[in-house]
Amino acid sequence: MTKQTLPTFIKNLVKIITARPQVPPSLDNNQLLHTILNRRSIRHFADHEMPDDVFNAILETGRVAPSTVNLQTWSFSIFTGETWQELFGQPIPLNGKRAIIILSDTHRGKQVMQFFPHKPLVEYTLGVINASLAAMNMNIAAEALGVASVMLSETGRSGFLDAKYLKEKLSLPDGVFPLMTIILGYPKSGYRAMPPKLPLDQICFTGKYREAELGILNDWFSQMFTGYKAEHPFSTFDAQLELYRSKIDQAEKDLQTMVFYEANGDASLR
Ligand SMILES: Cc1cc2nc3c(=O)[nH]c(=O)nc-3n(C[C@H](O)[C@H](O)[C@H](O)COP(=O)(O)O)c2cc1C
Repeated sequence: MTKQTLPTFIKNLVKIITARPQVPPSLDNNQLLHTILNRRSIRHFADHEMPDDVFNAILETGRVAPSTVNLQTWSFSIFTGETWQELFGQPIPLNGKRAIIILSDTHRGKQVMQFFPHKPLVEYTLGVINASLAAMNMNIAAEALGVASVMLSETGRSGFLDAKYLKEKLSLPDGVFPLMTIILGYPKSGYRAMPPKLPLDQICFTGKYREAELGILNDWFSQMFTGYKAEHPFSTFDAQLELYRSKIDQAEKDLQTMVFYEANGDASLR
């Protein structure tokens, strides 16, 4: 999609601005539900710092997250503004006050569980699943404490698309993969509208897989296009997708090397 008429743009904008997460009236007083439903990715943070106890409480919710066989296949590389600046030579992206690089980590457990068979794809999947759940726990905890956040996989070379770069920067052993960085801070202004989410009846089905309706999918994508344009008047959604496309080829090669060969000790394939 490269162009959008003004009436379509306005119609989509109205849909985006008026869309609200649905809470059944019987559950309207459930605070956790509201916290989860009203969470937004925030990309502009205020100048004031975050107290240590707040940050530590957020980390603690990552520590106790659920994981396959309780293997806790994650590590968190944590930063203040100063330590981020020291390592990366620039401030935390988006004026964030703290950052957590979420790492999938099957390396640590292997120190005491030698029986673990070398099955790279299973290991990688396991690590990604568990570490992502820990990340989401921390994301929701932050929100509950009045701290805003965004997870980054691309912005500021902070996620799996820059896995090789981060592996070097963080001196990661084989079996440890960067997934995303959670940037935390207090929101600079109010929360923006919810970006377009697909309706429940397009993502749920009973039993066998059911294709989504093409008309609804097209409408959603058109709203995504509008939402991006509204927030980035001097860029386009297509340009952003192109940027991702250009990074994906390299990221695929880097990840294949890291997941399939390095963990196998096969240096000849690097
Ligand atoms: C794993 C992951 C990586 C993300 N990477 C980026 C990123 O690099 N840059 C960015 O601006 N937003 C990033 N986001 C935020 C998404 O764009 C955001 O979650 C999505 O647009 C939905 O908005 P919401 O979180 O407000 O519901 C990422 C989100 C996730 C879960």
